[in-house]
Amino acid sequence: MIEEIVKPLLKWYDENARILPWREEPTPYRVWVSEIMLQQTRVEAVKPYFQRFIGELPDVQALAECPEEKLMKLWEGLGYYNRVRNMQTAARTVVCEYEGVLPASYEELLSLKGIGNYTAGAIASIAYQIPVPAVDGNVLRVLTRLWGDDSDILKDKTKKAMGRRVMEFMPEDRPGDFNQALIELGATVCVPNGQPLCDQCPWDTVCKAYKEDLIDQLPVKTPKKARRIEHKTVFLLECGEQVAIHKRGDKGLLAGLWEFPNEDKKMDAEDIKEWMAEHHMEDAKTKAAGKGKHIFSHVEWHMEGVRISLKTPIQSENYVWVLKKELENTYALPSAFEIFRKIL
Ligand code: ADE
Repeated sequence: MIEEIVKPLLKWYDENARILPWREEPTPYRVWVSEIMLQQTRVEAVKPYFQRFIGELPDVQALAECPEEKLMKLWEGLGYYNRVRNMQTAARTVVCEYEGVLPASYEELLSLKGIGNYTAGAIASIAYQIPVPAVDGNVLRVLTRLWGDDSDILKDKTKKAMGRRVMEFMPEDRPGDFNQALIELGATVCVPNGQPLCDQCPWDTVCKAYKEDLIDQLPVKTPKKARRIEHKTVFLLECGEQVAIHKRGDKGLLAGLWEFPNEDKKMDAEDIKEWMAEHHMEDAKTKAAGKGKHIFSHVEWHMEGVRISLKTPIQSENYVWVLKKELENTYALPSAFEIFRKIL
């Protein structure tokens, strides 16, 4: 099996691995940052974010000390902001308890905030050459096809079982490359959407799904629940070069980030008039400002914008006035609101 599985895979990886910024210098910190960014985000999208993040925050200490607003700005557009908040909490632990160096132990990595089985396995194997599995969605797809396994890959017990099975093949001398090769095969050959490129696969002679024509059936995933739809009316209040923004509460979706003032419902002309009266702006001009849709993992926002031009920046405890250009470099505005920012 080693001859049939491990050797061809590592040879393929040596010849075909993409050159990626985090692979050039796989320090524990760089591997950590890249793996957290790569959860839920494509490699091409991550590259510029990774370079900028590492440039601004080159080590664990810098991350631990980074002011909140700057940290959110560095993550702006990547989404799932708790990923970076957890990373900062973990960085502070690493500074206090491990002298600023990520621990070279799978269990200790796992104990840090935001580091789960996959990320602990990736850091331990890629940065420290510790032989442990790192099983993500890519790897599950590759392995269920290789073995013709119809277990539900969304179940935790499937991930655990695959991790144990990977260990039967783990090459002691190259655990990091072995894990990355599995990930890479899943990302570039045994692809998630569309036809996999089986003619380029190092496992074309051993893959059960390929031999038995099961590629379209594997992997098995139980369908997820439909997303909840939430309607929003978004107010673009402007006064010359100023615009009103509101800081979201410190719990829940997009916690602590900035947004345009909005209401959690669809509003007709009458509702909007009422809202404006409540905010002492009944004489202002309004214009429809387009529609936007944003998809989160469990919720979908369906938004309608209303642009309101004011002669004076009317104060309210619901928002603050800032310069439009400060939305570019100071306040972190999540991608959900990007289409409205572009209008301003
Ligand atoms: N996706 C998740 N981890 C990755 C890695 N280390 N390289 C490329 N793609 C990935």
